[in-house]
Amino acid sequence: MGGLAAAAIWRPLGSARAASFSTDPFALGVASGAPRADSVVLWTRLIPENASPAAADSFAPAPKQNLDPIDVEWMVAEDEAFSKPVQSGLFRAVPEFAHSVHVEVTGLQPGRWYFYRFRSGNATSPAGRTRTAPADSVDTLRLAFASCQQYEQGFYSAYADMAGRDLDLVVHLGDYIYERSYGAQLVRKHETGIPSMLYEFRDRYALYKSDPQLQAAHAAFPWLAVWDDHEVTNNYANDRAPDAPNPAEFLARRRAAYQAWFEHMPVHPSLAAGFDALRIYDHYRFGNLAGVTLLDTRQYRSPELEGSAGDDRPERTMLGPAQEEWLGNTLGASHAKWNIIAQQTLLAERDTKAGLATAYNLDGWDGYRAARGRLLEAVQTSAVENPVIIGGDLHAFYAADVKRDFADEKVQAIASEFVCGSITSDAPSAASLATALAENPHLKFASDEHGYAIMRLSERSAEVDFIGVADRKQQNSPATVFQSFAVADGLAGVNRF
Ligand SMILES: [Fe+2]
Repeated sequence: MGGLAAAAIWRPLGSARAASFSTDPFALGVASGAPRADSVVLWTRLIPENASPAAADSFAPAPKQNLDPIDVEWMVAEDEAFSKPVQSGLFRAVPEFAHSVHVEVTGLQPGRWYFYRFRSGNATSPAGRTRTAPADSVDTLRLAFASCQQYEQGFYSAYADMAGRDLDLVVHLGDYIYERSYGAQLVRKHETGIPSMLYEFRDRYALYKSDPQLQAAHAAFPWLAVWDDHEVTNNYANDRAPDAPNPAEFLARRRAAYQAWFEHMPVHPSLAAGFDALRIYDHYRFGNLAGVTLLDTRQYRSPELEGSAGDDRPERTMLGPAQEEWLGNTLGASHAKWNIIAQQTLLAERDTKAGLATAYNLDGWDGYRAARGRLLEAVQTSAVENPVIIGGDLHAFYAADVKRDFADEKVQAIASEFVCGSITSDAPSAASLATALAENPHLKFASDEHGYAIMRLSERSAEVDFIGVADRKQQNSPATVFQSFAVADGLAGVNRF
């Protein structure tokens, strides 16, 4: 598939300028996302010659960019051989957006697979496969969720495994790139420093997206994506970051990071309107079976507490007032059997200190208790069916019963929660996970494996598999299901089996 050979079935390009590429401009692969019942977004980013995916070093001047617009033809077909074309069109990829392509294809049929690819001049992209959301009743939805893929700390074997499974959707929960090196025993290198300029963020994404296993998972399914902190910098909160004392300087860096995120994700083209702020929270409906609500816990949050979790105040926020109000309305309007709330980290309380003393992660919801209380109140007052929280960030797998009062062991769970381990990023110690389980009875499971999770929804249950790779430091390492759970319809709480 793909490469430089032009396929015979493409119609003449008409107004498109016929570029002649000596290297494959589609080396970053293809992707799709934002699936609705009648539409989906197709993505690629062309790398013309002399705009290299990885700059030599970040102290050098910006690499010479190809400043010409490039016309790209896209095609959607019913079959993998592209013998039954459905739609095609032309998109002008411009240097202002790094020659990225975001095409929203509308007028599609609900709940069905499509194939797509791109062509420009003498180059044809690999083919991708995507799926629209179902419109009404549907028996099942199978989604994978993943996070935290530090490039230097491991290979993407988890994505090769994911690409081979029967799934309808992938949800990425953040830390798609990392801004810097962490840990030891690195298996490959960023080669460049900490990005702050737009071209530096672009190069970091291009490096991550050059990975063929990540490309395979993108080409196999539509994705929904939200960011966490490392797409900008570690533990940032709104306009503050530990490594940026000046908010004005930091907001310029954040703007560049948000633009590069847009340029490399299969998200709706309307997001290109501006990057000082970028509204990525959204709701997706999968027939009557499932709603997936994507939250942004980074862009609008109050600064991290400097004291202890007890210093939290009701006026502090994790989602910001607008997103909080939107979430309440969105949950209130949902008629789905399963309501997936996709956010970045563990929602449930987690005391990390053994014994009577307590300690909490102030970068997570434990540093934003009042905001967590309001989120749980919205879940309760909206009376949505079967709320299920999914998250990432902690580089460990967790399964939890979510309660209004975590201190009361007898109180009923009001939601179920699953956190996926990291694709590659270093995990916490086994001892720290054992402490978390011992100190927090509502945490039902924890593991330091690396991999991702799959959820299968039906009218009767949500089944969750935690999938671990044998060795993230080895290329093409096998992956297996190492723990499974179920949530029964109408009964919040995780059941391990
Ligand atoms: Fe992470």
